[in-house]
Amino acid sequence: MNPMTQLTVKTILTKPAGTEIEVRGWVKSARHSKNVTFLAVSDGSCFADLQVVVSPELANFESEVKKLVTGCSVIVSGVLSESPGGKQSVELQASSVNVTGWVEDDYPLQKKQHSFEFLRTKAHLRMRTNTFGALMRVRNAASRAIHHFFQSRGFIWLHSPIITASDCEGAGQMFRVSTLDAENPPRTEKGAVDWSQDFFGTLTHLTVSGQLEGETAALALKNIYTFGPTFRAENSNTSRHLAEFWMVEPEMAFCDLSGDAEMAEAFLQSVFKTVLNDCADDLEFFDQRIQPGVIARLQKTIDTPFVRMPYTEAIAALEKSGKDFEYPVHWGMDMQSEHERYLTEEHVGGPVVVTDYPRQIKAFYMYLNDDEKTVRAMDVLVPEVGEMIGGSQREDRIDVLRMRMNECGLDTEHYVWYMDLRRFGGVPHAGFGLGFERMVQYMTGMANIRDVIPYPRVPGHADF
Ligand code: 4AD
Ligand code: MG
Repeated sequence: MNPMTQLTVKTILTKPAGTEIEVRGWVKSARHSKNVTFLAVSDGSCFADLQVVVSPELANFESEVKKLVTGCSVIVSGVLSESPGGKQSVELQASSVNVTGWVEDDYPLQKKQHSFEFLRTKAHLRMRTNTFGALMRVRNAASRAIHHFFQSRGFIWLHSPIITASDCEGAGQMFRVSTLDAENPPRTEKGAVDWSQDFFGTLTHLTVSGQLEGETAALALKNIYTFGPTFRAENSNTSRHLAEFWMVEPEMAFCDLSGDAEMAEAFLQSVFKTVLNDCADDLEFFDQRIQPGVIARLQKTIDTPFVRMPYTEAIAALEKSGKDFEYPVHWGMDMQSEHERYLTEEHVGGPVVVTDYPRQIKAFYMYLNDDEKTVRAMDVLVPEVGEMIGGSQREDRIDVLRMRMNECGLDTEHYVWYMDLRRFGGVPHAGFGLGFERMVQYMTGMANIRDVIPYPRVPGHADF
């Protein structure tokens, strides 16, 4: 049983009639009649199934083949023949059918459509369905396209740490990492928990972003990117928030906000183009069954330059909209999903890059504009998903940075190394973070972010 010598369904479907092959996979559906059994066999390598035709001449036809049902695993050998009426050009005329695994009666995936809510409770099996198989291939193709985009431009992939003692976003939404006895932690003389006795000798958390370490690498290697899991303990039960999600964070030395926005636009368009090309069948499925128009929307995103709009202008547009927003609009507010969606879906009708946000609502590391009211931040907003990318030019003036850290209530002691970058050969630099799952939502039209990651972690749920 050597995977190196086994053909996938994807490859088999490209072979001509007459080829002798063997397929290994799972029965998607079985249709039995007296004189023939049709099996749709899938192995996840592509959207299509391989149709297998089994005749009663096989020795185990009555005893086994006729008992095959959805979910059974099989090894089938035979010869490909033309399949005039079928969905694919070839089908397999079986000369032997080996059943490697039967399914018990309570197999939860039947041929009928299941709700996504139900499938979340069966996440260990849902990748066998059309929707989740397609999603996994789209995730994979998008990951490959992301690496290719940066690698072909000389960016270095930085493996930023998962465990960290600093809070990049300064928002305090971190998961603690500790080996102390939760029931009976060591205490200081004053009665507080003594983190110095913890595993790392200090209080540590799971990272919310690899950016700060990314900046250190950019100031040595010029252009870098991270691509890894990030964690946020925000208690948001929405269709766009996960507690564990994957983020892509390029960081570029000798780059300002407008270079950053240009990179973000080129990046998104390139990844969409590649995935449209590499996952045509999968996206066709999403277009037909999940969100009609999703392919046209992607194509338009690839073909149309992104609109740029300073925050102040965006607020004016929201005020003029005549809409009755749940959260009233005023300069200085953090935009809510309803505002972001109005801007991209109704006002612009496509992606929009909002720049120069008020300093009060953005992180400490963003470059302070001369107006002293706004910072060189950018968010890329897209229809339905809202914020897909958040980025900025970084504050590279040490005195301004120190002032902003104090303003944001950060303990500068933990960021000495970060501030060093401004003292030792500092340069203007910028970067952004792409929420990978939000990008997958945009490409597939899946409404809930819990359904675009294999095992979603959200408040109250860490099953599997
Ligand atoms: O806007 P955010 O918080 O930016 C940063 O973390 C910066 N350090 C990035 C940088 O400049 N290098 O997060 C970036 C993106 C958001 O635009 C969003 O797409 C995604 O990460 N994101 C989430 N995705 C899923 N679930 C969550 N809870 C998310 N929080 C942010
Ligand atoms: Mg953001």
